Amino acid sequence: MKAVILAGGQGTRLRPLTYSVPKQLVPIAGRPVLAHIVANLEECGVEDIAIVTSPEAEAAVRQMISDEGLERLGIEVLIQNSPDGLAAAYEVALDWVADEPCVLYLGDCLLTGGIGHVISEHVAGDFDATILVAEVDDPSRYGIVEVADSGLIERLVEKPTEPKSNLAIVGVYVFGSGTSDIVRAVEPGFRGEREITDALQAIVDGGGRVAESRLAGWWIDTGTPPDVLNAQALLLEGLETSQDGTLEGSDVTGSVFVAEGASVEGAVLVGPVVLAEGAVVRGGTVGPNVSVGRGCVVESSTIHNSIVMSGSIVSTSHLSDSIVGPDSEIRGVQGQPDVRLIVGAESAIVSGESSHSG
Ligand code: DAU
Repeated sequence: MKAVILAGGQGTRLRPLTYSVPKQLVPIAGRPVLAHIVANLEECGVEDIAIVTSPEAEAAVRQMISDEGLERLGIEVLIQNSPDGLAAAYEVALDWVADEPCVLYLGDCLLTGGIGHVISEHVAGDFDATILVAEVDDPSRYGIVEVADSGLIERLVEKPTEPKSNLAIVGVYVFGSGTSDIVRAVEPGFRGEREITDALQAIVDGGGRVAESRLAGWWIDTGTPPDVLNAQALLLEGLETSQDGTLEGSDVTGSVFVAEGASVEGAVLVGPVVLAEGAVVRGGTVGPNVSVGRGCVVESSTIHNSIVMSGSIVSTSHLSDSIVGPDSEIRGVQGQPDVRLIVGAESAIVSGESSHSG
């Protein structure tokens, strides 16, 4: 089985962060969403993987593959020149897919419970396509499926105004061989995009058998800052303590992951907290639900429920519910209650003293 991950699009709801960091590369619990997805695929034996991304994000996607040690998989990186929809993005990969059975995985879809059952149900039922679905309270935000008495899907509707079902499409699909031409033929829909939902409806309309498979755990489409931070908190519930870095004169409660080369001096860590390689925490209180990226320096600050991306400095600041993009500098930023920041890459927010980076 092959897999195509869609990591193009624009990430408008995560701006300004996504002007500089593609949403699929935002690290959640210390690992970019795309790397969580690759791990889910590998877990069920799918190692023949292509990632479709935009020209702007290509370099960052390739860097992620190297940073996360995924070069061993020989992942194919393919470019979608303009964000014309999910069917258009999948079409970019269809020559590579070569009409073999293929998992299509949306690159902003973070889930637990794995996807192995979707693949095994698809193969066992010899379906033309199988779609991972979950019951939701707000179906009009999603693509939804309507299931016939036979148990097969009879209708799919993208963002319905009057949903007839509460079964939402999660973002993992398995396509059987022989479906590529149907994807290629999809025309733009009401959003002006070529929808993968329409390809699946065309398979149904052509007499194909399309099945649903239920989500085993939870799922979050990491489209907005609160979604990203909620997803991180949920993932960190399962964090196991691991301390390869150094801890001196510090007070630690709860689960903490201190990577090799990370150091904590005279600070309080309230788990769950993830400190990546080479991160330094000096003084202050970090956690709960915080991940600090590679090579960051956090000093004399309190940070909770936040993500600080690689290479950033947070000094004498009090942050909460924040996402700080890579290589940024936050100094003297305090408030009552704590300040909430959503900051892109290479930014400086400095209060009460001048910036080091100029
Ligand atoms: O979140 C689940 C929903 O995802 C499903 O319920 C919908 O049926 C499905 O159409 C999709 O809707 P969204 O509106 O959430 O899709 P979004 O535009 O966020 O794109 C999903 C992923 O695909 C994301 O990683 C970006 C990528 N993408 C998107 C477009 C429009 C591309 O790679 N190329 C594109 O042209």
